[in-house]
Amino acid sequence: MIEQTVNVAHFSDLHLSGSRDRSQAERLERLLDAVQERQYDHIVISGDIIDTADSRDWVFFRRILERHQLCSLEKVTVVPGNHDLINLEEEMRFYNALNPDFAGRKRRFRRKLGEFCEIFGDLMTGDGSAGEFPFIKVLKFGSLSLAFVVFNTVYPWMHTENPLGARGYVSSAELHALQHPEVAEALEGCFVIGVCHHAFRIYETGFPIDQAFDWTMELINRTDVLKVMNELQVRILLHGHFHRFQTYMAGGIQIVNGGSFHYNASRFSALHLHADGTFEQQFIDV
Ligand SMILES: [Fe+2]
Repeated sequence: MIEQTVNVAHFSDLHLSGSRDRSQAERLERLLDAVQERQYDHIVISGDIIDTADSRDWVFFRRILERHQLCSLEKVTVVPGNHDLINLEEEMRFYNALNPDFAGRKRRFRRKLGEFCEIFGDLMTGDGSAGEFPFIKVLKFGSLSLAFVVFNTVYPWMHTENPLGARGYVSSAELHALQHPEVAEALEGCFVIGVCHHAFRIYETGFPIDQAFDWTMELINRTDVLKVMNELQVRILLHGHFHRFQTYMAGGIQIVNGGSFHYNASRFSALHLHADGTFEQQFIDV
């Protein structure tokens, strides 16, 4: 009997500038070619797909996926990062920073997230309709059922709470939705992988300047998120945000930081999942 193995490629933080940087697009085409030549079953991209929250750059990215016949639920999973949803330059403008209209700012944020869900709806719902976070995706590969639990960690820009727009937070509505008994039921018997943008550890170095930087980048309620991930028996969590290719443990779960395509366009993280529930992870250089 041949043992079933499912191979998942994971990369992150592309920071694409759309048609303004053709060489970047060529590098992405080359990475996708390399992943497809190696016959990976699925690709996960954990946020910061584009750099300046310009929706036209998402469409540019989608066209690249389309050229590689990758625009389907079975083939690709994407999640937004802060650079996808927050235009920092816009938020930092003097009139905007001092504008106390937080409700308006949150509305704009929700609209932007909704736009992401519309553009990438077919990778979330499978029927081309607009998706919504959180969502789960169950894919069957022979005897192995693979499930992705995908949630948004991007927190709206706020001049005191989130001055660089880079802090993360999973809303109580999303955590609640994931705790619905139907979710655990749907995940039963699956190898479960969590996907989001922000990190589950602090990348501190001990220098005061870095500690301040850590605060601006952290996933604020990561302990609560890890608790829910454990309840859902998530085996591996994939993220990006900190541009480091790295694995570590948090809350008893194996975490993989997919690094940054923007800084190294020829490296990605590979997961090899076996039907007996074991797995291996490695970073591949192409
Ligand atoms: Fe990020």
